[in-house]
Amino acid sequence: MINTKSDIFDFSKFNSFNEKVAELLINSLKRNLSQKQQTYLALSGGNTPKPIFELLANEHSKTIDWSKVMIFWVDERTVPQSSSESNFGNAKRILLNSLDGVKFFRMRGEIDAKDAAKEYEQILLKHLPLKKGVPVFDVMLLGMGDDGHTASLFPNSDVLREKTKFVKAVWVEKNNSYRLTLTIPVINKSKSRIFAFHGKTKYKLFKNILESSTIDYPIQMLEYKNQKNYFIIGKDLK
Ligand code: 6PG
Repeated sequence: MINTKSDIFDFSKFNSFNEKVAELLINSLKRNLSQKQQTYLALSGGNTPKPIFELLANEHSKTIDWSKVMIFWVDERTVPQSSSESNFGNAKRILLNSLDGVKFFRMRGEIDAKDAAKEYEQILLKHLPLKKGVPVFDVMLLGMGDDGHTASLFPNSDVLREKTKFVKAVWVEKNNSYRLTLTIPVINKSKSRIFAFHGKTKYKLFKNILESSTIDYPIQMLEYKNQKNYFIIGKDLK
């Protein structure tokens, strides 16, 4: 259940929303780099992060030593990186090309989905610190869909019950395609998570979720006790 202990920031201005997400992300990376030589970030895709990536590329390409940041993805569509649907392709075009020395590991959406999931799990196990065998991110940027999904954890999907695998290929009926996604065990292990979403439907859903005593949506199936959670929301950003 999402506890109201989470830091919730509610914006009406589009620029302020994006600036807050960028600020939280950069501060989290800085905090980690003040304690160690490498920090681990996982990015979501979709449309919401695009202006945030632009802000990071334009305002923060020199704010931190990006060569000490290792970037991974929370999920990916099963398309080539050249596709406009590719989460990696969009992040590379908008953000990564501006970050000197940044290291990144994409999910290969262009190969067999099950093979890509297995491959990415090995990449996580190779590069990330582990806690009780689970890869640990320092910070994760997550979104939410109108149906309460986050990452590619869609309602009524088997992946919501995955307890051992860290990356799964998920058939998404409504998209008639596979998605690649981190699973709940990995998402729960991240030290901090920044949830960023806006729009009337998502806003109303989130407010209902905060008041609800039942667990009906994937975003509620994450655990919210052992990490720092931020919610950056907006109803109708101008
Ligand atoms: C993706 C994302 C997904 C996203 C939500 C919201 O690959 O689409 O990782 O989980 O965060 O679907 O998407 P929008 O930001 O486009 O509304």
